[in-house]
Amino acid sequence: MREVAVIGIGQVKVGEHWDKSLRQLAAEAILKALEDAGVERVDLLYVGNMLSGVVAGQEHLGAAVADFAGLRTLEAFKVEAADASGAAALRQGYIAVAGGLADFVVVCGVEKMTEVPPAEIISALGLGTDGEYERAHGITLTALYALLMRRYMHEYGYEFRDFAAFPVNAHRNAVNNPYAMFRRAISEEAFVRAKMVAAPVNLLDSSPVADGAAAVVLAPLDYAEKHLSKPVVRIAASTAATDALALHDREDPLWLKAAYLSAQRAYAMARITPEDVDFFELHDASSVMAALSLEAAGLAERGKGLRLAMEGEISLRGRIPVSTMGGLKARGNPAGATGVYQAVEAVLQLRHEAGANQVEGARVGMIQNLGGTGATAVTHILERVT
Ligand code: COA
Repeated sequence: MREVAVIGIGQVKVGEHWDKSLRQLAAEAILKALEDAGVERVDLLYVGNMLSGVVAGQEHLGAAVADFAGLRTLEAFKVEAADASGAAALRQGYIAVAGGLADFVVVCGVEKMTEVPPAEIISALGLGTDGEYERAHGITLTALYALLMRRYMHEYGYEFRDFAAFPVNAHRNAVNNPYAMFRRAISEEAFVRAKMVAAPVNLLDSSPVADGAAAVVLAPLDYAEKHLSKPVVRIAASTAATDALALHDREDPLWLKAAYLSAQRAYAMARITPEDVDFFELHDASSVMAALSLEAAGLAERGKGLRLAMEGEISLRGRIPVSTMGGLKARGNPAGATGVYQAVEAVLQLRHEAGANQVEGARVGMIQNLGGTGATAVTHILERVT
């Protein structure tokens, strides 16, 4: 297997892009990433996307995006794993370069969600849950998070107000991210007063429906070390795992088994322990998912993920910074694009180009993207080489 580096990154501001089509957004991110990489040759394109067929009336996204990005004739495919689609596409790109089947691979995550009425998009996001046993009965993804949140409070004795720690941190970090959807800080009081979505998950506990696109260019590490003038970032680990699709089929709903397995495999592959991770871009689609992700990754004991956040240890200067550029909560969560945004942000941190949000001396970053309520987990560990 060859070692793989990320040699280029590009992103579009997350938000409501009513004036741009899905493939325009994708092309914008891809062209920025290619410019950053300084390469013209591309061997392969993977597009991470969840909902293009339902929302934009466009499948066959590999060809559609390649064509529009000036890469006509290139081998190109869409990769889908619900809201873990972006990271799943990154993993396919990694496999292609590591396996020696391609030298230069572009991975793009793109999603357009804001053009359709809220009820339609919420129903569409439910496609990542169990269609026969969950979605068919009308339960939404947010309502499933709400069940987890209630259970977490019941099992571990937390109050609703305690969960504010995650969104307050994410919004604070988004203020300095020019690509974030919500560049405004929020207070604990605002969190407690926000309008309810699916009790107890409220507006400020939810990641927003959003449009966006991000892209990375992958190449063999040898190439990067010879040709890159900027700091080289390698992919030290790329792993994935699955769990029961439906929440009620899990052995323990408060244990993200797929997240645990893919994190463990990632630590083994990168030959590191959780203590070596300088920051963690986790899947904070709602704050209970952030708490459970910290626990599954071995960064907090069971029931203590939220405690870690309440004690300030997830802030930029804390023990394990999370959502360093705003996370899903405040950068925004354009479902199938999110995993690639996490990769772009990790590279910024590792190149030490994260500006006011720089995690001091960051050398190792972990990113984890979940599908549905965690039935798919894709984990990457990125490391600064030079
Ligand atoms: N956090 C903070 N502010 C938000 C927000 C969020 N998640 N979502 C919307 N807002 C703000 C908007 O900017 C707007 O502010 P303004 O009045 O100052 O312009 C206001 O709240 C209302 O926005 P609107 O677009 O009407 O929100 P909505 O009520 O239609 O939708 C949610 C809000 C939370 C219900 C919706 O974003 C949602 O369902 N999110 C979850 C999506 C999901 O399940 N994602 C998949 C997880 S992987």
